Amino acid sequence: MTKITAAITAVGKYVPDYILTNKELETLVDTNDEWIITRTGIKERRILKGENKGTSYLGIKAAEDLIAKKNIDPKEIELVIVATATPDMQAASTSAYVATMIGATNAFSFDLDSACSSFLYGMSVASSFIEAGKYKKVLLIGADKCSSMIDYTDRTTCIIFGDGAGAVLFEPNEEGMGLMDEYLRTDGSGREFLKVAVGGSVLPLSKENFDDKLNFVKQDGKTVFKNAVFNMADASEKIMKKNSLTNDDISWLAPHQANKRIIEATARRMKLDTSKVMMNIQKYGNTTSATIPLLFADYETQLKKGDNIIVTAFGGGFSWGAMYLKWGYNS
Ligand code: UT7
Repeated sequence: MTKITAAITAVGKYVPDYILTNKELETLVDTNDEWIITRTGIKERRILKGENKGTSYLGIKAAEDLIAKKNIDPKEIELVIVATATPDMQAASTSAYVATMIGATNAFSFDLDSACSSFLYGMSVASSFIEAGKYKKVLLIGADKCSSMIDYTDRTTCIIFGDGAGAVLFEPNEEGMGLMDEYLRTDGSGREFLKVAVGGSVLPLSKENFDDKLNFVKQDGKTVFKNAVFNMADASEKIMKKNSLTNDDISWLAPHQANKRIIEATARRMKLDTSKVMMNIQKYGNTTSATIPLLFADYETQLKKGDNIIVTAFGGGFSWGAMYLKWGYNS
């Protein structure tokens, strides 16, 4: 019997129109364009403006883009997963709203949150349903309205994050395309170094902690940086070794876009030429769960069926990992 693998068969994306440039950030905090570009590689990021627009708005647009491009009937979708660290609200699944609004009325849905690793882990979950033969069309959306948790008076975070969404469709494949292998890890001792302290069950929002700005994301940048460099590189190297892949066998590296220097360090450790490294951090900054599907969307026309791609991410928690993926189609 032919082995069923889970392949990506379509991608979609959405980024908001508003461009927050380094120049504009210079008017908000004590920073400058040169520092931001040298230390992070980011030139601009997109921000979702307008009342009553949350992460679902971004996710719906990305999913609609995919549905239009692939020309599928949303009623055929059986599962919608929204990978996000910034759900619309607590205790009401963002994915349920997204699924309904895109017309996926025959699907069930759930949110998946593991900070910046949400989409990577989502790929593992989505693939498992396909490989098990349970569902044939799983829509995985990575969407984050990061601006909703950013303090625009804090120069250590406001320069990094942006808003955006990407979507991919997983379908069964009998030609050996799709997810080949994965190495995923977490380490809870890292949660002190990158978090939004307030608004969860440990510390519900109060007037006092709101006044202390604890509802915004805070990070110990240096510690996160060091762990991200080590673990993204380590996980990528491990997955290559496990699958006997040399740098020549790799067509592309699709790394979470948190900092250009983290991406370059990972590529160096894999001995990969920079021409094989997907990068769009300069345009969008760190969009958390959306970075990887936005890469797939931006590089779609350059990707070829059978391309060997290493996907890797690192995020809060800590959470990290790497995947070996064979691209599923020619666009
Ligand atoms: O997706 C996972 C989530 N996050 C990450 O992966 C982020 C990982 N961390 C980073 O990307 C980097 O640590 C940052 C970009 C956040 C910071 O870069 P850095 O090279 O680690 O800078 P630093 O924190 O060591 O700061 C160096 C200097 C400091 O000044 P002094 O103490 O040397 O005088 C900072 O106060 O740069 C200063 N600084 C800034 N200067 C201008 C910090 N932020 C800024 C800024 N503009 N925005």
